[in-house]
Amino acid sequence: MRPTPRDASPRRYLMCPPAHFKVTYSINPWMDPTKPVDLPLALAQWEDLRDRYRALGHTVELLEPAPDLPDMVFAANGATVVDGRVLGARFAYPERSDEAAAHLDWFRRNGYPDADVRVPEHVNEGEGDFAVTASWILAGRGFRSSPLALAEAQEFFGRPVIGLELVDPRYYHLDTALCVLDDARDEIMYYPAAFSPGSRTVLERLFPDALVVEEPEAAVLGLNAVSDGRHVLLPQAAVGLFEPLRARGFEPIGMDLSELLKGGGSVKCCTQELRPAG
Ligand code: ARG
Repeated sequence: MRPTPRDASPRRYLMCPPAHFKVTYSINPWMDPTKPVDLPLALAQWEDLRDRYRALGHTVELLEPAPDLPDMVFAANGATVVDGRVLGARFAYPERSDEAAAHLDWFRRNGYPDADVRVPEHVNEGEGDFAVTASWILAGRGFRSSPLALAEAQEFFGRPVIGLELVDPRYYHLDTALCVLDDARDEIMYYPAAFSPGSRTVLERLFPDALVVEEPEAAVLGLNAVSDGRHVLLPQAAVGLFEPLRARGFEPIGMDLSELLKGGGSVKCCTQELRPAG
């Protein structure tokens, strides 16, 4: 039987071109500063992703890249926007700390009133560690975001925040191990081995119908994906995910972001979702 096709809803994303992308330091196991990066290829791959979003009818806003912030292309880490309200980021490593101000500045210049923008007290790496479902905000911790950021996010957004413990350094951000497929229905996919036993049990309880992903797909960052409710843009190497996604009525779209993978990121890392009010 053919699954019922899903409905896409139009999204607004914030992205930052990898004009100054390089791997000169290593803050996650994917980053090897001795491996060369092909910058023109990185740019072309990123432009493909941006153009694909636009072709699907989504809005892509752009952040100005800064020469001394090579990881700025990973725009998901710069803030979390829910209900039109912005929780700024505070980075765990000094190499990225100045990215937080660049994001805050963008929101202030783009019509977000001060009252809706919070400069965070505790370390959180934006949507790297926060994932928004219909009922909850899921919050990864263990490598980057502080456990204290959970309470801060819950108080600010007024949504229940569920903490999830990450245990494998290759999956250092929540968005490398879990992806929201349908944010109107609490539907996710995730890789269980990236989480502590207790967090795995929490995920099983909250998401009994989740798409459970295996090691080969997780290991190519297949979970670092973006869904609009119907189209799921994901690393093309995660071929094993295409059929399971289609069986649920989703339309997988494989993207090649091989150069950005050298920084430890892929589709989702490059994409911050600006969720509107109401
Ligand atoms: N090099 C970056 C870092 O380690 C990659 C960030 C990837 N972003 C993400 N949302 N997982 O911080």
